[in-house]
Amino acid sequence: MAVRLQTERLILRRLTRADLDWLAALHGDPQVMRYIDDGSPVPRAVVVEQILPCLLREYDELPDGLGCFAATRRSGGTPLGWAGLRPPSSHGLDRAAASTAELGYRLLPAAWGRGYATEAARALVGSAFSELGLHQVVATTMTVNLASRRVLERAGLSLVRTFYAAWPSYLEGAEHGDVEYAAVNATSQARATGHR
Ligand SMILES: CC(C)(COP(=O)(O)OP(=O)(O)OC[C@H]1O[C@@H](n2cnc3c(N)ncnc32)[C@H](O)[C@@H]1OP(=O)(O)O)[C@@H](O)C(=O)NCCC(=O)NCCS
Repeated sequence: MAVRLQTERLILRRLTRADLDWLAALHGDPQVMRYIDDGSPVPRAVVVEQILPCLLREYDELPDGLGCFAATRRSGGTPLGWAGLRPPSSHGLDRAAASTAELGYRLLPAAWGRGYATEAARALVGSAFSELGLHQVVATTMTVNLASRRVLERAGLSLVRTFYAAWPSYLEGAEHGDVEYAAVNATSQARATGHR
């Protein structure tokens, strides 16, 4: 098991081909997908043919420490979902931003409301700054995705702006736009401004 990080209750580890079933259930869950992409559950075949292979390929293609990681309870059992850091790619983010990673997470509904996403997000942000030495962690979500916004805030990110993008399909609440969040590495910021 290729462990990326451990927290008080969680292990974040690399995905493998054996993760297909719960990953397909996660991406195929309408509650999970409510505020993501076109808001529709993703068919299992798409997870088999595109999503899982792409997530596995990323471990080779991305700089060390980046990618999506399965979040499992330290006590064992089926993973609760995934959380990860990748180069910024979501609509609205600066894809050319140097030394920057985008934070993302997705958990199965049975695991919601117990602080797991916050715990995983905090660990990833901490590692982005202390271990990977990145300058910035960014994220976006729909303005109405209050759970996700709260996770970002609890992980130390602050609201940068609300923006209105032309999405190809309408999701409930889209009229309130999307929000961008960011956290800057205090050490790299101090270096840039000449402060200790
Ligand atoms: C967003 C998500 C990962 C949150 O996971 P979680 O493990 O339930 O989050 P936590 O338990 O760490 O809760 C984080 C905070 O959000 C709050 N929260 C949770 N659900 C909420 C909701 N529906 N509305 C408002 N606040 C909510 C919690 O109370 C907590 O705040 P607190 O620490 O001040 O009490 C989970 O809901 C999910 O996977 N959603 C579907 C995928 C998704 O939308 N991902 C983000 C895409 S940008």
